[in-house]
Amino acid sequence: MDLNSIKKVAVIGAGTMGNGIAHVFAQTNYQVHLIDISESALQNAIAKIGSNMDRQIKRELMTEAQKADFLKNITTFTDTAEGVQGVDLVVEAATENLDLKLKIFKQLDEVCDENTILATNTSSISITQIAGVTNRPEMVIGMHFMNPVPVMKLVEIINGYATDQKVTDLIVELSEKLGKVPSVVEDYPGFIANRILMPMINEAILSLQEGVAGVEEIDTIMKLGMAHPMGPLQLADFIGLDTCLSILNVLHDGYGNPKYAPSTLLKNMVNAGHLGAKTGKGFYTYTKGSKELVVSDQFKK
Ligand SMILES: NC(=O)c1ccc[n+]([C@@H]2O[C@H](COP(=O)([O-])OP(=O)(O)OC[C@H]3O[C@@H](n4cnc5c(N)ncnc54)[C@H](O)[C@@H]3O)[C@@H](O)[C@H]2O)c1
Repeated sequence: MDLNSIKKVAVIGAGTMGNGIAHVFAQTNYQVHLIDISESALQNAIAKIGSNMDRQIKRELMTEAQKADFLKNITTFTDTAEGVQGVDLVVEAATENLDLKLKIFKQLDEVCDENTILATNTSSISITQIAGVTNRPEMVIGMHFMNPVPVMKLVEIINGYATDQKVTDLIVELSEKLGKVPSVVEDYPGFIANRILMPMINEAILSLQEGVAGVEEIDTIMKLGMAHPMGPLQLADFIGLDTCLSILNVLHDGYGNPKYAPSTLLKNMVNAGHLGAKTGKGFYTYTKGSKELVVSDQFKK
């Protein structure tokens, strides 16, 4: 098992993360099988990869000829069993839902070659639980890319309870080859990235709820005081408030510690359908074509 044994990679799910993961593998000259149940998701992903590569061309990080070659590395499939034929690694980036992931990994175990490594990009679901539905738990690992994948350097690599050290070493090496910086952690709820990030976001929302400060004040303090590129409330809008809530629930259930209990304001906003940038309304209000940060009416003083 070495880096040269990985030539073909399947990416399952062609949404926000899947298209970025396919992009970085394709530009590192891997053959990529991009799989989604939705044909339109596949078409949108290819268009998105093309437009993101155009941005790299503008910044002189890629040439037109390279873009054409890299796009040729990607083949799309709507059938998982067909798409994973002959691949050495699968990176699953389908919707964050436990039952769905368990179903996908059960099928992957049945249809993939016995040497194929099965990785998941899950933000919060236990790698050990996912590995448990396969007959190859030693070959299952977390490969948690950050959004937007072509830009963000980190890959949080998560060892399941039974992950083979050789698999971990290989995924570390592979992440470096993709131009990323890997960090290896163990399989506990939220891993490291979300275990630390989500309580910070929740604390920012609690501070707003209690009237300690307004949206702009909280974000300004964290941006200028802590040198964060984005304030926690803007970041929550970017991630999606429903996603933040579901990760906090994973932490709360997983550790049984009340410090992870999601704030009432977060729950109310999710119930109201104010999920952040993707619905046009969260702590800020988003208008297509405008980059201006406008605090939502509910939070204006
Ligand atoms: N969005 C983020 O910022 C982010 C960051 C890190 C990790 N993640 C993780 O990445 C994964 C994907 O998240 P996303 O934001 O890209 O979601 P998304 O909703 O943008 O995309 C999910 C895609 O999966 C497809 N899909 C659903 N069921 C499928 C199946 N059975 N087979 C193949 N495709 C299927 C959907 O059609 C959709 O295109 C999740 O596990 C999430 O936790 C997300």
